[in-house]
Amino acid sequence: MAMITSLTMNFPHISTHNNYNNIYSNQKFSTVCTNNTCNLSSRSSLVPLIWPISLNSLHLSKQLTAYHYVNQRIHLRKNRKMKQVICGRSEPLKVMISGAPASGKGTQCELIVQKFGLVHISTGDLLRAELSAGTDIGNKAKEYMNSGRLVPDEIVTAMVTARLSREDAKEKGWLLDGYPRTLAQAESLERLNIRPDIYIVLDVPDEILIDRCVGRKLDPLTGKIYHVTHFPPETEDIKARLITRPDDTEEKVKSRLQIYKQNAEAILPVYSNIMKKVDGNSDKDAVFEEIDSLLSRVQKEEQDARKSEAAVISSTRADITSLNKDWRGIPTRLNNIPHSREIREYFYTDVLQATQRAVNDGKTRLKIEISIPELNPSMDVYRIGTLMELIRVLALSFADDGKRVKVCVQGSMGEGALAGMPLQLAGSRKILEFMDWGDYGALGTFVNIGSIGGKEVGEQDDLFILVAPQNAVGNCIIDDMKAMTDAAGNRPVILVNPKLKDLPGSSGIMQTMGRDKRLEYAASFEICYQFRLLYYAGTQYPIMGALRMSYPYPYELYKRVDESPGKEKYISLATFAKRPSVDEMNDAFEGKPRNQAKRAQGFWGFLSGIL
Ligand code: AP5
Repeated sequence: MAMITSLTMNFPHISTHNNYNNIYSNQKFSTVCTNNTCNLSSRSSLVPLIWPISLNSLHLSKQLTAYHYVNQRIHLRKNRKMKQVICGRSEPLKVMISGAPASGKGTQCELIVQKFGLVHISTGDLLRAELSAGTDIGNKAKEYMNSGRLVPDEIVTAMVTARLSREDAKEKGWLLDGYPRTLAQAESLERLNIRPDIYIVLDVPDEILIDRCVGRKLDPLTGKIYHVTHFPPETEDIKARLITRPDDTEEKVKSRLQIYKQNAEAILPVYSNIMKKVDGNSDKDAVFEEIDSLLSRVQKEEQDARKSEAAVISSTRADITSLNKDWRGIPTRLNNIPHSREIREYFYTDVLQATQRAVNDGKTRLKIEISIPELNPSMDVYRIGTLMELIRVLALSFADDGKRVKVCVQGSMGEGALAGMPLQLAGSRKILEFMDWGDYGALGTFVNIGSIGGKEVGEQDDLFILVAPQNAVGNCIIDDMKAMTDAAGNRPVILVNPKLKDLPGSSGIMQTMGRDKRLEYAASFEICYQFRLLYYAGTQYPIMGALRMSYPYPYELYKRVDESPGKEKYISLATFAKRPSVDEMNDAFEGKPRNQAKRAQGFWGFLSGIL
């Protein structure tokens, strides 16, 4: 069990804004797989038969579903001690360094990086970089930093998690300097299951700290830290360009010190069993010697633990099997609208998990297609709200992972008398702006709302969510989308319920010019989530079944059956590696074996024309 726990540390994060845990215990959804292809458990046909052999924790984490993740999180919270002991055993070194202002964190980090090659993440440096680049974050942080106060947790946390999620930090390991600095920050990392292998605290008496701060000088060119007496610059040229930090006055240092002390005690219990206090009041090389020996010991333990990896793999395989029991099936009564909050949340979570897996796998052009009555605003305008809720779940979750998300709603297209926008999207940008984005302060920092087009792509943006981009009569959105994806380069662009087929226009222009290119472009987005209900052709009642695909798993075909009056369930009929054709689905409904080349006809031809 301990081994399994260690491998669940890096599971994709589910937004902390969304309290979905309650729905995981819900039993209302119908279970599936009554056919004999699903003999192991209800979800056995939905998971790959062959699991990856190279089970490093991150890779594995991408394969497991968040149902499992939530259960594990609950388990981990209850059993923090076990998690600490085994955390990160097969991963590179992860170090936190803490201490009062001027205790020498930055100085020691330079030496640690030289020897251990870790990625140095200093919140002070990150904030100063934002400040000098004049970004929104920098402007918000400025007044706090200059007065020696702490910058609000949500800003710093998002910055740190963004930096930690980058490839170099995952590969080389990390050295976190100056974070967490409050209990809330430590808890944010806990929620993300980010824990260091060791927590170093530099201990220096107060009076020494003040002298160090007041005498500190920085080289703006190299970032090197000097002190007017302890570490004077090597040359006159360097001396001439040295600068003093605005928060290094005696008065501000005293206030910073007080703030540090207030918070340090609260954080300690979180890391008490991996905390190592180091005397920071000696020569800097002597301080490093002690740190070096501590880190080398942790590294050695790490290597020893790797030897038991084979055992981890076998434990994990067993765990994957038990995971199948958590499959909740498809929610029922999907034609009854409005949907309950529970059903809406089911879909938000389902979409989110698939999309996160695809983004984590490096996919950059993605498409979500979810067509349930509740998401069809042409039937009833309130349903645009469900789409907006879905967008918010996605955006906040990626923002939680530290990504700067731009949510894009197309504006008016065309000019003069031809200007217009799809009716369904009218007012939706305003709705997004007025929505509650939480106390987190995400809107305007990590989530921004924009339009569709090349100019919307800012350097800061990490990911783009396009809300139902669609053509309007006589106007095509694809050129704007193309400009946007060109500008976005390899940053993910996610289309939610796009409608990119040509619409009949009075001039006929859209149907003829560049049609192939438009279709080719529309097809360049890979589906990461699809859910659609299946009806008799041309009707919306009764529901005959459902087709679901959640990246990276196969397409799943379900048949809806009435168990008793008012009670229904979905039965798994088949899975398909690629999106099934109408014929293939009809065959599955008829119970015909695969690859029987025959066109659908008669009663079971009901699916014709839906795809
Ligand atoms: P940050 O830059 O992190 O400041 P700090 O924690 O106050 O630490 P310092 O950079 O002042 O000191 P240090 O320990 O790195 O010491 P150094 O090696 O430079 O943060 C700045 C601001 O950003 C904060 O006030 C806050 O507003 C904001 N912020 C940052 N993180 C945040 C967070 N998580 N949440 C909210 N807000 C956040 O050494 C100091 C001097 O001593 C140097 O001159 C050096 O040469 C000298 N020295 C070093 N070692 C020795 C030695 N052994 N003997 C003699 N002299 C030495």
